[in-house]
Amino acid sequence: MTNPAQEGAAASEEARRRLVFPLDYASLEEARAGAGTVAPAIGVIKVGLELFVREGPSAVAMGRELGLDVFLDLKLHDIPETVGRAVRNAAALGVRYLTVHAHGGRAMLERAVEEALKAPSPLTILAVTVLTSLDGADLTSIGVVSPPGDQVLRVARLAWDAGVRGFVASATEAAALRRSLGPGALLVTPGIRPSGSAAGDQKRITTPAQAIADGADLLVVGRPIRDAADPLAAARAVAAEIEGALARTPRS
Ligand code: C5P
Repeated sequence: MTNPAQEGAAASEEARRRLVFPLDYASLEEARAGAGTVAPAIGVIKVGLELFVREGPSAVAMGRELGLDVFLDLKLHDIPETVGRAVRNAAALGVRYLTVHAHGGRAMLERAVEEALKAPSPLTILAVTVLTSLDGADLTSIGVVSPPGDQVLRVARLAWDAGVRGFVASATEAAALRRSLGPGALLVTPGIRPSGSAAGDQKRITTPAQAIADGADLLVVGRPIRDAADPLAAARAVAAEIEGALARTPRS
């Protein structure tokens, strides 16, 4: 039996675990300071290409030292052998989530999943479907005739059939992916803006509450937290919005 106080603490913890903070900083020292400030309110830090190319595995180690899961966002796309070896190396660093491009094809995706399953600690491969920077004309120019929304679902299904269970999706794609892939998919959604904050360069944005209602599991929230006068308070406010939305959204 749990009492209401325990249930409240569990709900807050669940909301915190779903908040991903990208380390969009120029150096490891800035990233460490930024992550350390918001660590009590977040569950995951995202290390992207910019920081990883500059700082390498130290950026992953820093997140783990703070007690956070690390999402290594390298969007791998290469031959299966090379991707498999890269996944193995990421696993050895203790990374919790790692992105690959679904357009790398079935054999590459299968190999990534195979290596992730051998990891010493849980490692979830996340497939990136169609970059949100690409529109229909861009796809046509590389010989893809399907509209972007159809292509997202096509390559998501390919990745699913290859054993991938995690997906990065814009908030506008989350609902369609959830319908297509069912409750077993883990959906990670950037482009989140708490009500009242600036959109920045994100064109298609949604609120934390809407993203949860659309079926997102993990929410990537960067600048509204990083650039806030009080980043920890901003992260706590987002986590509170996630908690409220989870309470309203029935989950299967
Ligand atoms: O600051 P903001 O909340 O827009 O940060 C979003 C993070 O998610 C950034 O690290 C960005 O690179 C990443 N991202 C994104 N849009 C995508 C995919 C990734 O903003 N479609």
